[in-house]
Amino acid sequence: MNPEIVVATKADIPDLILSASRLFAEDGGRRDPFMDTGWPAREGAAYYGQLVDSADCLCLLARNDQVEGHLTGRIATSALRPGAVVAVLESMHVAAEHRRRGIGSALVERFFEWAGGHSANEFSVTAYASNEAALALYRKHGFAPFEVTLTRGSSPAR
Ligand SMILES: CC(C)(COP(=O)(O)OP(=O)(O)OC[C@H]1O[C@@H](n2cnc3c(N)ncnc32)[C@H](O)[C@@H]1OP(=O)(O)O)[C@@H](O)C(=O)NCCC(=O)NCCS
Repeated sequence: MNPEIVVATKADIPDLILSASRLFAEDGGRRDPFMDTGWPAREGAAYYGQLVDSADCLCLLARNDQVEGHLTGRIATSALRPGAVVAVLESMHVAAEHRRRGIGSALVERFFEWAGGHSANEFSVTAYASNEAALALYRKHGFAPFEVTLTRGSSPAR
């Protein structure tokens, strides 16, 4: 059954923390040796509490009986880029057993809809270069590389 996609409220913070913890463990935890995978459990209540209360931020949950995924986004402006109203897709995750059923796409579409209501004229998202699933999802929704971040560890290859 397709999950319902809802805007999260304070009561949903435990579900946001659960889905964010899955994201940190699966994505950053595997791809970034410095990622603090305990961050959502430790700091999530305060962080998502502030997000759900902010008009410039979006917290979505996909759920049936249990949480199947989440997306968070925010509107960002910068004095260095006057006129740009950027909707930043900050994080998203779909539980492994519910993938390839269109939930990720449904979350992204709801993010675009919300951003349109905030007069966004640019959309951005950051993903690890090795995260092929996420990159394919974002490309499917019209994102394309703009800036590229290059890193190296203390030894050149990692
Ligand atoms: C990336 C992610 C959110 C996709 O969620 P999903 O619900 O499976 O996505 P959808 O079913 O809506 O897929 C939409 C399209 O994305 C692309 N896609 C999704 N997963 C893919 C995969 N594993 N390989 C290749 N393309 C993929 C396809 O184009 C797909 O369309 P199709 O199924 O018609 O081929 C999910 O795999 C996930 O949570 N991954 C771990 C966390 C993560 O990487 N989050 C993003 C961090 S930047």
